[in-house]
Amino acid sequence: MQYFDFRSDTTTHPTEKMRQAMASAEVGDDVYGEDPTVKALEEKAADMLGKDSGLFVTSGTMGNLVAVLAHCARGEEAIMGTQGHTFLHEAGGVSAVGGVVIHTIPNQPDGTLALTDLKNALRNPDDYHEPTSRLVIIENTQNFCGGVPISLEYTESVAAFAREHGLLLHLDGARIFNAAVALGLPASKLVAPADSITFCLSKGLCAPVGSVLCGDKDFINKARRLRKLLGGGMRQAGIIAAAGIVALDEMVDRLAEDHRRAAMLAEGLRANGKVHLTKNSPQTNMIFFQLDESVALSMAEFLEAMKQEGVLLMDSGPGEYRMVTHNDISDKAVEVSLEAFRKVLN
Ligand SMILES: Cc1ncc(COP(=O)(O)O)c(C=O)c1O
Repeated sequence: MQYFDFRSDTTTHPTEKMRQAMASAEVGDDVYGEDPTVKALEEKAADMLGKDSGLFVTSGTMGNLVAVLAHCARGEEAIMGTQGHTFLHEAGGVSAVGGVVIHTIPNQPDGTLALTDLKNALRNPDDYHEPTSRLVIIENTQNFCGGVPISLEYTESVAAFAREHGLLLHLDGARIFNAAVALGLPASKLVAPADSITFCLSKGLCAPVGSVLCGDKDFINKARRLRKLLGGGMRQAGIIAAAGIVALDEMVDRLAEDHRRAAMLAEGLRANGKVHLTKNSPQTNMIFFQLDESVALSMAEFLEAMKQEGVLLMDSGPGEYRMVTHNDISDKAVEVSLEAFRKVLN
């Protein structure tokens, strides 16, 4: 059976061009700094994001972990949202591995952190009972608040706050290019206020593996050592970096297609009557929704019934579901899924 997989943009398959680039990639030992394809990817990524340097890492999780470890010493504190991926879904790595304390404050419905909450979260540097505030982490797009593109003005205001209080700013930009496309701004502009940024090649950009961490030269040198410490020094990694280059060259602008299809899906779901969109969906490539109270199916039953119709989607917390559009989701997939909703619910 053919499934249309709306669970996540992480389920994308590499394009034919990526497979060709991988097959013919020039490689070397990247731990010795000798892989030309990895170097080319790192330079291209840093260029596109307007930062000095880039570091190819295995995943968004590793990019965020290395960044936090490079910015914070053990016992220092990173302030971030309760809906932040690094807090919720990265296995507690920054605390488990780096001894970094995560201080959470609520995300506002628009994905942002309120500046007053940030201010209240600051520790007193003169009180040796308290951890030391060191870092703020924000996410763009903000996944669990609805795939929200976070504005440049807001990012600038957080960066100004961070500078004023001697903190650094890390941006988890797993889907920064979705934000850039949605806001009509170059990614380099959106991330300019941040000291460091991780973005993923493996989500909407369709590469099979990898993320890139970008920042200034000294920061990336430090991060490179930490990547090695974590076992993330890869050898002939040019094989996978080659797909990342194709991702940056060819897959960024087409994210607008995913946003268009998310809007198409949302329109169909609104018309269904048994589906209530949540989190102001869609804002980029994600749709969050709940089912009407009149629907007697449990979450597991609904997911299974949709699967029987060839449509995979995801449970996103109590009573809520998520669907994500991506390169493997065509207009036809959206139509099939809307028909499946009608069949299962009406
Ligand atoms: C916002 C955000 N940050 C980081 C990550 C982690 O990326 P990875 O799955 O490559 O570790 C994800 C993954 O979905 C994400 O959505």
